[in-house]
Amino acid sequence: MELANKSIIVTGASSGIGAAAALLFAAEGANVVLGARRSAELKTLAETIDRGDGNAVYLAGDLKDESYADALVALAEKEFGGLDGAFNNAGIVGEMGPVPDMTIGNWHDVISVNLTAAFLAAKAQIPAMKKQGQGSIVFTSSFVGFSNGGMPGMGAYAASKAGLIGLAQSLASDHAAEGIRVNALLPGGTVTPSGGEGNPAALEFIANLHPMKRMASPKEIAQAALFLLSDRSSFMTGSPMTVDGGMSVRLT
Ligand SMILES: NC(=O)c1ccc[n+]([C@@H]2O[C@H](COP(=O)([O-])OP(=O)(O)OC[C@H]3O[C@@H](n4cnc5c(N)ncnc54)[C@H](OP(=O)(O)O)[C@@H]3O)[C@@H](O)[C@H]2O)c1
Repeated sequence: MELANKSIIVTGASSGIGAAAALLFAAEGANVVLGARRSAELKTLAETIDRGDGNAVYLAGDLKDESYADALVALAEKEFGGLDGAFNNAGIVGEMGPVPDMTIGNWHDVISVNLTAAFLAAKAQIPAMKKQGQGSIVFTSSFVGFSNGGMPGMGAYAASKAGLIGLAQSLASDHAAEGIRVNALLPGGTVTPSGGEGNPAALEFIANLHPMKRMASPKEIAQAALFLLSDRSSFMTGSPMTVDGGMSVRLT
């Protein structure tokens, strides 16, 4: 039980990595607060966790709304007595294509869901963690924006994911002495709806970019998030942690 009795927010819990993480954290003893826009998916996941002797509550909302991050923290405090950890994981890919063809609307969407929402999450979560005297925050960044070689057609996404690393490092340095750790998790290609699931040609292309010649399962990424949220990573803060099948060390 790596997260026994810890109260943890998971965003992007309606799908992919976030759903796998919520199931894993609950199995490791955490009380989980599930966030995403799709209420029906969150409800089904919360019921699955509750049936398996875990504890889950959910609140559907849009991370672009400033008040949603506060509401998730308030729910954690009301239902589970405080906030010990947060997996700020939700994200979108947005339009794919070169920047000259990209709309400013797409730029704003991607930056606000992937990066501004992380800023709002930290603003809401850190005061709650200070009350507990400790906490761990994990942002889901990406190999895109970090690895050797740019991914074509992903200017806004790459900028948002690289921005998360800077945000994590600055927060880590501001709050380390308060017992609050902040790290960025950088998955490689992962088989989820936004990772190409259901599109065999895309999955094969992405798998072949990796030295391991395969993509991750959502659970493999969830296991890394579990490590960052648990006391196993107690001396780790401000780190961009790659879990990418060797993507960041490939030569070509
Ligand atoms: N899959 C990959 O290959 C890969 C690689 C590196 C990094 N990542 C990152 O991993 C994270 C999880 O992605 P995934 O692959 O698991 O994709 P996914 O299955 O598409 O899940 C994305 C999640 O984000 C939520 N979300 C999107 N926009 C939202 C909004 N405005 N407000 C609230 N929730 C929102 C979605 O829920 P609703 O639609 O219900 O709102 C969904 O739960 C993302 O940050 C992604 O960038 C993925």
